[in-house]
Amino acid sequence: MTTVAHILKSKPEQQVYTTTPATSVYDAVKLMSDRNVGALVVVDEGKVVGMFTERDYARKIVLMARSSKDTPVRDIMSAPVLYVSPKQTNEECMALMTENRLRHLPVMEGGRLMGLISIGDLVKDIISEQKFIIRQLEHYIAGDIA
Ligand SMILES: NC(=O)c1ccc[n+]([C@@H]2O[C@H](COP(=O)([O-])OP(=O)(O)OC[C@H]3O[C@@H](n4cnc5c(N)ncnc54)[C@H](O)[C@@H]3O)[C@@H](O)[C@H]2O)c1
Repeated sequence: MTTVAHILKSKPEQQVYTTTPATSVYDAVKLMSDRNVGALVVVDEGKVVGMFTERDYARKIVLMARSSKDTPVRDIMSAPVLYVSPKQTNEECMALMTENRLRHLPVMEGGRLMGLISIGDLVKDIISEQKFIIRQLEHYIAGDIA
């Protein structure tokens, strides 16, 4: 079982993309598009206060016919935020995401934002862990038979 710390290290980039509650939804979506990510952590005076995701945009702007330029992130962000610590396991994160229908989890340690993991990061990690176990078992079986 791998840890969140391990998953974060294997991401190509360590930077966490954030926005503020007062930023317009338009500017936040532009940042998501520029950085090719599906979520932003909402930070106010150094504190994590919400998550803003493509789902929030689709459901609370598009479907409700609101203007993204006139709506601040605070009006449609999701809060309170569920987060994980670097020591938690990939399985714990997957359970949290499944039970709460989340695709992104901020990683916090001692009140500090350390990173963010997405469902894609978890799936990639779990697949590579399973490939490793299969290889080990294949070696074991081959050694056993020979
Ligand atoms: N092959 C890979 O390495 C890999 C890893 C993750 C996702 N993906 C693919 O990307 C697509 C979408 O992925 P997703 O649904 O997991 O969500 P996503 O598009 O939000 O995440 C894509 C990547 O961006 C990172 N990311 C997202 N928001 C971030 C933020 N605010 N700050 C820093 N990093 C952030 C995630 O951790 C993930 O590594 C899927 O098709 C998935 O398969 C591929």
